Amino acid sequence: MNFPKNFYWGGATAANQCEGAYDVDGRGLAKTDVTTAGTNETPRFITFLDRNGKPGRVAQFEHLPEGAQYAVLKDTYYPNHDGIDFYHHYKEDIRLFAKMGFKMYRMSIAWPRIFPKGTESRPNKKGIEFYKNVFQELRKYHIEPLVTISHYDDPLYMIEKHGDWQDRKWIASYLRYAETCFKEFHGLVHYWLTFNEINSSVMFLDLNMKKTTDADYQAAYRKLHYQFVASARAVKLAHKIDPGNVVGCMICGITEYPLTPDPMDMIKFQKDWQKVVHYCGDVQCTGTYPYFAEKLWKEHHVKLDITPKDRKDLAEGTVDLYTFSYYNSSCVTTHKNPVKAKGNFSMGAKNPYLEYSEWGWSTDPEGLRYFLNEIYDRYGLPMMVVENGLGAMDRLEKDGTIHDPYRIDYLRQHIRAMAEALEDGVDLRGYLTWGCIDLISAGTGEIKKRYGFIYVDRDPKGNGDMKRYKKDSFYWYKRVISSNGKRV
Ligand code: BG6
Repeated sequence: MNFPKNFYWGGATAANQCEGAYDVDGRGLAKTDVTTAGTNETPRFITFLDRNGKPGRVAQFEHLPEGAQYAVLKDTYYPNHDGIDFYHHYKEDIRLFAKMGFKMYRMSIAWPRIFPKGTESRPNKKGIEFYKNVFQELRKYHIEPLVTISHYDDPLYMIEKHGDWQDRKWIASYLRYAETCFKEFHGLVHYWLTFNEINSSVMFLDLNMKKTTDADYQAAYRKLHYQFVASARAVKLAHKIDPGNVVGCMICGITEYPLTPDPMDMIKFQKDWQKVVHYCGDVQCTGTYPYFAEKLWKEHHVKLDITPKDRKDLAEGTVDLYTFSYYNSSCVTTHKNPVKAKGNFSMGAKNPYLEYSEWGWSTDPEGLRYFLNEIYDRYGLPMMVVENGLGAMDRLEKDGTIHDPYRIDYLRQHIRAMAEALEDGVDLRGYLTWGCIDLISAGTGEIKKRYGFIYVDRDPKGNGDMKRYKKDSFYWYKRVISSNGKRV
């Protein structure tokens, strides 16, 4: 298999899922800090104090009752509070990444570590210092950082004051934060992603416990518009501050298929791609809303506040790179009652040709090849897979080994699919596996849904000494990297 000479092999994490130290050195709260642990069957909950000060909780993705305020409750376990304590283990973890031969490490900055509330005019020095240390440590081993500016941990204070990106004020706040990062980490970081899985606002709308309303669509499209503008202005700013900066979009890449050859399924398949994947990619890569946007808005009576300056900035702030996460595919159909895959975040119908993980996620490497070709054909931009992997339960043996052939098998198949896409002609620049070290699952809040090459001793109740162990996949990935993808 032929991978380009300077191909970026590596792994990816997000601050809220691994750093821990949630209240250390002046960090403010994020929504993940008031989110409990769930399982495959039970949702994660958001905790609050109601208007009378009484504690309560609602399922993730639901609204708080009128007058309630987010709150960290006593005697409640919040897995993200400690994560895997990367905050205090980063040197050890980066040394392990270097041992595997990582060329790139994707991580995110916790916005509330830099601006605790999101409204301050000056950043938190301790936060800046922490990330400088991390980037310097990476540089020591010649590992290129790829930094996500916002990865599911926007300041909770801003959410309480202005809703989740429901006010233009978010744009200025985000830009103050992004500018601080570009300036403070100038020379240390060259690769940036503006928002993690920006399309998740529309993609996961139907996962609401209640039926999705027009108001939900209004909120999702409004949020996206403000994020698009913030992203475009950040791209311009990043280029101005350092012309060597490369800025990418980051899309949740679930490949969809029509379940049947019924022409109506084909139309649904096309419309779904437009709505959940291309809507965001088009704005961020071409600088303008696609032709089908108006119809999507009309369907749900959405009205957006788009100014001429917004349009100008969108056009001028297109991204340099298309990056995406890819785990699985799903099927869409207009037919009634299709068989569904069980599991959290599982959408659409079950594909009879694929196998599914314990969490109901399909394994579909061909879907990755398809996605790469589809997107490259659309934009012709360089691409990177910045998340891919298998969440599975691992067993730590008495002798400290972990045998994870299922993970190796999953990753091997996806590396082969990327090699095919490269042969097809796609300009693919890198492959960063998700959760290269075990971390807290975003979907279920469990540590036992492990993705890593490195095992972390921690259980779902918060017991364990956080000691790190190398899994079999650690040695396998090291060989993949040293052979530049030839020995998989
Ligand atoms: C992506 C997110 O959606 O999927 C990550 O960017 C997340 O934050 C990953 O962890 C895997 O999902 P989960 O639910 O298994 O953690």
